[in-house]
Amino acid sequence: MLNDTQLLEAAQRFSTPLYVYDAAELDAALAGVRAAFTDTRIFYAMKANPNLSLLRRFRSAGVGFECVSAGELARAVKAGASGEHILVNGPAKSDEEYAEGGRLGATFIVDRGEEVALLPPSSRALVRVNPALSVSTHDHLATGAGSSKFGVPLSEVAAVVEALKAAGHTARGLHVHIGSAIRDAGDFAAAFAKLSELRPSVGELEVLDVGGGWSLDADLHGIAGQARQAAEVFGAQLWAEPGRYLVAGAGVLLSTVVGSKQTGRDFVLLDAGMTELIRPMLYGAVQPIRALWQGDQTKPYDLAGPACESGDVLAHDVPLPTPQRGGVLALLEAGAYGAAMSSNYLSRPRPAEVLWDGSWQVIRQREGPEAIWAAEL
Ligand SMILES: Cc1ncc(COP(=O)(O)O)c(C=O)c1O
Repeated sequence: MLNDTQLLEAAQRFSTPLYVYDAAELDAALAGVRAAFTDTRIFYAMKANPNLSLLRRFRSAGVGFECVSAGELARAVKAGASGEHILVNGPAKSDEEYAEGGRLGATFIVDRGEEVALLPPSSRALVRVNPALSVSTHDHLATGAGSSKFGVPLSEVAAVVEALKAAGHTARGLHVHIGSAIRDAGDFAAAFAKLSELRPSVGELEVLDVGGGWSLDADLHGIAGQARQAAEVFGAQLWAEPGRYLVAGAGVLLSTVVGSKQTGRDFVLLDAGMTELIRPMLYGAVQPIRALWQGDQTKPYDLAGPACESGDVLAHDVPLPTPQRGGVLALLEAGAYGAAMSSNYLSRPRPAEVLWDGSWQVIRQREGPEAIWAAEL
């Protein structure tokens, strides 16, 4: 983890709002995944953070990519991946995505039976199973519930596998992903148990892809052990698609204090908000926070961003030393779904991103106004 001196140096040198990543933490996260998920092919879910420098780093370490858009497919190729290293996923793939996935020879993740007829000829595919489970995470992060838009109901999976074969595709196996930021290993065990029930109807498989969804403090060895057992039921090779786990802990969002204000609440006003980090507003996400200034007194503050939106509050009741204009605040565990979800709302430039790898590397420049309106006429 980068220390306060390094973070302050980055804020001073590159200005804020700024995403800072620690290369050693990225490498450690991947090593942690590999230590738990032995004999498993890892496909990084690049939606968590699609920065090309991070993708190239993962690719050169042998990691493939799970992609959910034509843009992500293009990034995978740009980062050096070929079809064998690419999964094409998504509940509503476009014609362009089918064509590009087919051209690359990627493996498709089929999300509904109708897709069998939409795949390019002789495609390789996994069938995404909807295990109809409620899991311990925010509603918007749960994808395995029976009422969610994802996956094929258990009762229809065998028929979709058969339909793939009948249409001349290769049905490589099954896929499941029950949601994101899941702490409870029991949720994964329940999903894998549901999948295992399909063994009599689908037979042996080449691949069992258990998705991602692990929170940073999840019991990875426990989850991997359960996944391995499920794979053995099918005689299958194990694949996994971590997103958050690989990048969240390596990233910090640095923001500068613009001022403070007292209404019914005590606010610290920041130069970063929902346009730089929307997770607190979207999912009620709680980021660990560190103030990089000293102060005599500590009391709880709400952290408000600069957007003209009442919901633009990054955290509530955070104990902080007396705020100082110009003080720098570090929002930790921000490497996943932070920069990736940043937006140009209010014509705000998306923040710069820098990587510490023994020296600072700018891996995304801060946008200027021209970049924001470049596609407009
Ligand atoms: C199919 C699939 N795989 C993997 C992931 C990555 O999830 P996480 O970042 O929680 O590991 C997602 C996230 O939405 C997903 O939809």
